[in-house]
Amino acid sequence: MKVMKQMNVLQLAVLLGMGVSLTACGEGGGGEGPIVAPPLAPAEWADKHMPSGWWTDAAKLEEGRKLYNGETNPDVNCGNCHGKDGKPTKAGARDFRVADRMKLYSDSVWAWRIAEGVPNTKMKAWKSKLSEEDTWKLVLFTASYGLPGKGWDPATKSWVDAAGIPTAPTTVPAAPEPAGK
Ligand code: HEC
Repeated sequence: MKVMKQMNVLQLAVLLGMGVSLTACGEGGGGEGPIVAPPLAPAEWADKHMPSGWWTDAAKLEEGRKLYNGETNPDVNCGNCHGKDGKPTKAGARDFRVADRMKLYSDSVWAWRIAEGVPNTKMKAWKSKLSEEDTWKLVLFTASYGLPGKGWDPATKSWVDAAGIPTAPTTVPAAPEPAGK
């Protein structure tokens, strides 16, 4: 009788365990918990965006890939936790392939989190090891996992086809005054 009871407790534990892992998968967040919008970027970052023209710049993307994989600086190796192929290797590391979550991040929030980290998690602040340009290259590369070919459009506050994002106007020389005036 006593043995039977223990068996039942064990079976219950197994069943519960299965239930928990099933719900985790069902959330579609890659086991990272429910998909919720990130906090707003602080004032310092709110108006910073991807440098003009970079969303479609393959060379910058490649520089981002090298940074991410620790090829540029071995002290900066995002792939150690987030995975070389974007499949996280450390539990809880953000899965950039989950577009439903990542599209809730503006480019400003994305860059801010890389620079400042996420308090009380394994995601530390990287700004001491990254220039601001490097930070944007990493936004560019990590966004390419879940949102390939897209870029953040500050005007519409949404991810759109990268080719459609206006680049900063190149300074055109002022048109000459019409003659005879
Ligand atoms: C030691 C492991 C580790 C390394 C290395 C690491 N991360 Fe993370 N990262 C995490 C974890 C864990 C989280 C999830 C934090 C949380 O719970 O919000 C995270 C979250 C993020 C987020 C999302 C932040 C948010 O608000 O959801 C971004 C963006 C990110 N990492 C980018 C990077 C980049 C770029 C690098 C390389 C410069 C990097 N990470 C290196 C562990 C790591």
